Amino acid sequence: MQDLIASSLKYQNKTLSVLDQYLLPHQQTWHVCEDVATMRDLILGLKIRGAPLIGLGASLLVAHLAEQGAEKATLAAAIDELEATRPTAVNLMHSMTKLRVALQQDNFVTAIVSSAVSLFNEDIALCESMASHGAALVQSGDNILTHCNTGALATAGIGTALGVIYKAQQQHGDIHVWVDETRPLLQGGRLTAYELERWQIPYTLICDNMAASLMAAGKVDKIFVGADRIAANGDFANKVGTYNLAVLAHFHNIPFYVVAPLTTLDIHTECGENIEIEQRNSAEVRGVSGSFGEAQWAPSNAHVYNPAFDVTPAKLITGWVLDTGVYHQSQVLAGELKELV
Ligand code: MRU
Repeated sequence: MQDLIASSLKYQNKTLSVLDQYLLPHQQTWHVCEDVATMRDLILGLKIRGAPLIGLGASLLVAHLAEQGAEKATLAAAIDELEATRPTAVNLMHSMTKLRVALQQDNFVTAIVSSAVSLFNEDIALCESMASHGAALVQSGDNILTHCNTGALATAGIGTALGVIYKAQQQHGDIHVWVDETRPLLQGGRLTAYELERWQIPYTLICDNMAASLMAAGKVDKIFVGADRIAANGDFANKVGTYNLAVLAHFHNIPFYVVAPLTTLDIHTECGENIEIEQRNSAEVRGVSGSFGEAQWAPSNAHVYNPAFDVTPAKLITGWVLDTGVYHQSQVLAGELKELV
């Protein structure tokens, strides 16, 4: 397979490596990934994360195993095991479905490698398209609020919602970003702040519970977030806390946009209620750990509720920024998303 390089995932000299996003921004550690068990642990530990990137990492590993001479049955089992690692993000299922089809070809090694490479390159192009459509919604001087991390770290390209912000800054300038720190795993505070800093885009970090007062003070012009799965009726799942923002945006009359590639659209899931939400470890809420150290503030037996994602209903969304264009609420409520795939 040819060399493929993204911000946090690379295939170089026949070696697959993953930048440990759990240790960013204070530690830059790349893990070599040679087998399914390692990739599974990297995904479960959020060392590789972001809906598009998980699908790409898993695909590159399967392609690598195919090139190393793995048998058809081993590859089929690898695809099944990787697909089960995170249940909410549909991009992973989309990628694994493509590889399953490739596995049925006579020359399955070539077919799998070519599918994995296309998925990677397509993702770069999808990011560019979303960014162009989304940037047209932004004006110079806008204060944009975002949640979690949806940048280059989470994709093969410039990102989804954060890609829009990057493009808007390039095209219009004078953009300022409010960054939700995104408890419990702090993807905003650690990763989005890190990316904006590198891109030299002015930002201010806030705790998630500060968004309401900012909106009330008229300090948020627009909200852009990513998605892990968009259902056929336009409801979508994204990092927990996204729904809070949508409710607040609705109350304060602030445009709320979701940005995602068509690979995130799941027309087989009728509505948000049917999206499986990953439940995570209690320790993530009882305290924190990372490259900055470890702390636990809650009693060790504290009962915890820790869904990784929540669902935002279509009726709270101003627009869906996809790689094929921007779809407004009236179009989506009329069922237009179903016609896109
Ligand atoms: O648990 P994570 O960090 O993988 O969650 C990521 C998100 O919720 C993102 O918004 C989504 O995957 C889109 S990333 C381009």
